[in-house]
Amino acid sequence: MPKLIVVTRNGEEREVMGEAGLSVMEVIRENGFDELLALCGGCCSCATCHVHVDPEFAAKLPAMSEDENDLLDCASDRDDRSRLSCQIPFSDALDGMRVRIAAED
Ligand code: FES
Repeated sequence: MPKLIVVTRNGEEREVMGEAGLSVMEVIRENGFDELLALCGGCCSCATCHVHVDPEFAAKLPAMSEDENDLLDCASDRDDRSRLSCQIPFSDALDGMRVRIAAED
């Protein structure tokens, strides 16, 4: 199982194992990080699953859709590492990826 490193809003870092095929949002939620609200359940309509992804993994991520881009535009904590974690399928290729949960809007 690939490993995901999650950094919480207060800077706590934890390694978790995630099932390939789940989204990164689902891996984070299933491992008990309640501060990632993911209110829409992964439908790409809420932006409460916003994370910052380590740049070394940027090239391995799927391209951002227009919807994801528009939603992130509404997020105050957006930067060039921002992604919606529900739009990233987790996989062996992302083993060791580090994501930081974005500030709450
Ligand atoms: S969970 Fe709502 S946009 Fe990702």
